[in-house]
Amino acid sequence: MARILPADADAIRQAATILRRGGLVAFPTETVYGLGADATNESAVRAMFAVKGRPANHPVIVHLADAAQLDAVVADVPALARRLATAFWPGPMTLVLHRSERVSPLITGSLDTVGIRVPGHPVAQALLREFAGPLAAPSANRFGRVSCTRAEHVAEELQDRVNLILDGGECQVGLESTIVDVSRGQPAILRPGAVTAEQIEAALGGPLAGQSPTAPRVSGSLPSHYAPHAMVEIVTADQLEPRAYHLAGEGKRVAVISRRWLPIHDPRVFVITAPGDDEELARSLYALLRRADELKCDVVVTTLPVEQGLGAAIADRLRRAAGPRAV
Ligand code: TXA
Ligand code: MG
Repeated sequence: MARILPADADAIRQAATILRRGGLVAFPTETVYGLGADATNESAVRAMFAVKGRPANHPVIVHLADAAQLDAVVADVPALARRLATAFWPGPMTLVLHRSERVSPLITGSLDTVGIRVPGHPVAQALLREFAGPLAAPSANRFGRVSCTRAEHVAEELQDRVNLILDGGECQVGLESTIVDVSRGQPAILRPGAVTAEQIEAALGGPLAGQSPTAPRVSGSLPSHYAPHAMVEIVTADQLEPRAYHLAGEGKRVAVISRRWLPIHDPRVFVITAPGDDEELARSLYALLRRADELKCDVVVTTLPVEQGLGAAIADRLRRAAGPRAV
């Protein structure tokens, strides 16, 4: 079984020692739990890819304690990137920048850029300061699955393949960081998150670039990602009930994730009530999808929020969870 420790000062010291020896430590950030490895240790980075089951061409994010350490990992920091770093770090935002030669191509999937994040969670901050170096850390889930927002979820996903899980309770944001590409002129969002497009444009004092077909592939932009075992169907609010009854009629076990109470009485249908507030929904979304798996449902039926602000990030993850699956 995985070793889980409450993230006190002693556990953080143990975690830093494990990382210095090339081990793997899962730790909380304000977005989701990360699976950390010493970014300067290639065998540790290889082990991290193996544990996740992640293909080698999917780059991972490098985490720093503060922006003062940027020069060690990136080649240059454009003025607009500085502006975003000042506005949103520490916080739930990742910047894609030209990498320094000191960053291993293993981390960047051989790209000439690297994703950098300064997380704000006190445990992530304490760990980065104690370790005193860059940590490569993807989300602490198996590749393609929903990210983990609680230490117990990490234990379920990774079992004894991680040396230590630091338990910092539930993640505040619940969705992965906003990724902004600032390596190619006009900044562009590669993955929406809690730092919204509106906030970024306000900080930039100008518009973001639209989605470019030549944008680098990110694992979060594969059709199916952030997916539970159950299939996910997105419908309109008035279709929730009829679709659930229809699927149950086909013999399926159905989870309905609904923001309003539904009077469904069918032993095969489980109504999971979701928070009406977008911030609360973001925080609990992955736990709700995991709940559908615990209930052994075949299908999740749900609706999309209004795609504004945080709603855009929630809708993005639900669409990817509903995307076609590789067999
Ligand atoms: O909130 C988060 O970002 C969490 C926490 C742990 O920090 N991390 C996370 O990592 O979500 P991961 O590995 O699950 O997702 C990182 C995403 C991937 O979609 C990856 O392709 C993209 O970042 N990425 C990393 N480096 C990149 C680069 N140089 N260019 C474009 N995309 C990049
Ligand atoms: Mg991930």
